[in-house]
Amino acid sequence: MDNRRIAVLLSGRGSNFVAIHEAIERGDLEAEICCVISNRADAEGLERAREFGLDAVCLPSRGMGREEYDRLLGRALEPFRPALVCLAGFMRIVTPVLLDAYPGRILNIHPSLLPSFPGLHAQRQALQYGVKISGCTVHLADEGVDSGPILMQRAVEVEDGDTEETLSARILAEEHQLYWRAIALMLARLTSAS
Ligand code: GRF
Repeated sequence: MDNRRIAVLLSGRGSNFVAIHEAIERGDLEAEICCVISNRADAEGLERAREFGLDAVCLPSRGMGREEYDRLLGRALEPFRPALVCLAGFMRIVTPVLLDAYPGRILNIHPSLLPSFPGLHAQRQALQYGVKISGCTVHLADEGVDSGPILMQRAVEVEDGDTEETLSARILAEEHQLYWRAIALMLARLTSAS
């Protein structure tokens, strides 16, 4: 398999996308970002993608049903022929419409040690529960919220006096180290399977 193209889907800041881009630029990750798609026009990540000269596409999702939107996404992705679709702060749940088009090839990153604390505000959930260790997870997406087979995780200690902001920042730093490594693992698996 010589297809090392990855598509990135995001909804906001896009720091994980930038970290993946930087890993490619450094030569740590042998891949090519073929497109960045956002469901929100004001996503900072979309702006960064344009600055990097990447194909940046806005596909607004407002008012659309999940499956209807996934059909649109599928059509937008098709010409780029990505080997992997990487959800990076993409605030929508994907349906079988997209999952079936890219079986075992859609990745997601989440700021907790799944299966603990799926869903929104994972870092706040971790603090409220009182866990002493949290972290981040890259997993294959399925129809659930932050569920699906786990690919890689990193642990982050919760420190006395941590706030949602301080814990989120330390977890995010680990996310930036984790996602590109999980992508490399998946691309290596796909290569050996072909
Ligand atoms: C990250 O914490 C990621 O784990 C979660 O959403 C956040 C996205 O951040 N799914 P960014 O847009 O990559 O900066």
